[in-house]
Amino acid sequence: MTTTPLATPEPTSADLVARAERVIPGGVNSPVRSFAAVGGTPYVVARAAGAHVWDVEGRAYVDLVQSYGAIIAGHAHPHVVNAVRAAAGEGTSFGAPTRREVELAEAICARVPSIHKVRLVSSGTEATMTAVRLARGVTGRSRIVKFAGNYHGHSDSLLADAGSAVAHLADAVPGSAGVPPAAVADTVVCPYNQIPELDASVAAVIVEPVAANMGLVAPQPGFLAGLRSECSRVGALLIFDEVITGFRLGPGGAQEAFGVTPDLTCLGKVIGGGLNVGAFGGRGDVMDHLAPGGPVYQAGTLSGNPLATAAGLATLDLLDSGAYEQLESHAVRLSAGLTDALTSAGLTAVVPRVGPLVGIHLGPQPPVDFDSARQGDESLYARLFHALLSAGVALAPGPYEVMFPGLAHGPAIVDHVVAMAYDAARSISGEDRS
Ligand SMILES: Cc1ncc(COP(=O)(O)O)c(C=O)c1O
Repeated sequence: MTTTPLATPEPTSADLVARAERVIPGGVNSPVRSFAAVGGTPYVVARAAGAHVWDVEGRAYVDLVQSYGAIIAGHAHPHVVNAVRAAAGEGTSFGAPTRREVELAEAICARVPSIHKVRLVSSGTEATMTAVRLARGVTGRSRIVKFAGNYHGHSDSLLADAGSAVAHLADAVPGSAGVPPAAVADTVVCPYNQIPELDASVAAVIVEPVAANMGLVAPQPGFLAGLRSECSRVGALLIFDEVITGFRLGPGGAQEAFGVTPDLTCLGKVIGGGLNVGAFGGRGDVMDHLAPGGPVYQAGTLSGNPLATAAGLATLDLLDSGAYEQLESHAVRLSAGLTDALTSAGLTAVVPRVGPLVGIHLGPQPPVDFDSARQGDESLYARLFHALLSAGVALAPGPYEVMFPGLAHGPAIVDHVVAMAYDAARSISGEDRS
């Protein structure tokens, strides 16, 4: 007698989330991925290609998360995948310098004129944390100024009053339990889009030149230039956190788009092509304060990792001027289409856009700072999120994130998203019940 073994059923998203919750706090390895802000159970991704992700049950979603901006050319772009594959075959980490990290550093310096030297690290958090340490080391001062609603990663001194998923924690300062008051004693938080008057105790001002962690908030005319002149006046360093905007707003990032030159720039996301890279860079005389030549210490076992630099270089190859035009045109179409879809379906909504970045704010006016960003209707966002997810469109599961339409989000895909958004908005605005 022969027996056929019973096939083991593939685990569903719900199965995997339940298992994850037993072994991973909150079931996720980064709080932005949880559905805490919108309710429900996260979809578990099995694979992705271009503008789409598929969950473990085989459902497809048009993905506007795109790894929170780490993906710009579309998921699993063949040029990037082939570069990573080839690199992996040569070894995954050495603890010694490699050719591609030199080439990625050269590519960054060639495209961002304010960066004469750059240090590669493994995350945006490392980049901002170390840029602040460097600014303190260079100036011999302690105080730093940041802006409410900006998110610079999860280091102690920068979490205060931060945007992104931190916005859902109970109290703004110090930003998280476990951050000792001493760690934020030298962090001054100011409202975004207001130029603070600095004094000579300030080592650095760190800012997202386009705020993309409290929804999307554009810098008002004169804000970035005002920060530049205040920093210069008191001898503080101006740090642009371009982890999101770098290589997305254009090859020279927000500093090129707005014509303001920072002393230090933090990068991440796009320059790793979906793998783990961060970077910070600036003038040579400032960067030369870093160890081993200088007294400011920073190190990393996986810094400048061969796979990550391969993915980053392959991604930068794809970002020519035509690519930036395409990115912007996708974002223009998405922002105009969504504005029309959401408002004509009866929601009070604005869809701000800066270059290729697009936000959704469920309120009457585009936000200008964290206070106005928090006036958006969070529970309505949750309903819109779920209505769209059921229709196969994945937004980020939190109202303070932005959308990242990329090279793969061509007109047909954008138009589909807009049509789904109209239906979703109708279903939750109640107009369809009349
Ligand atoms: C502007 C900004 N800076 C820094 C970071 C931190 O980067 P990472 O998550 O790679 O540590 C982020 C992450 O989203 C970010 O949006």
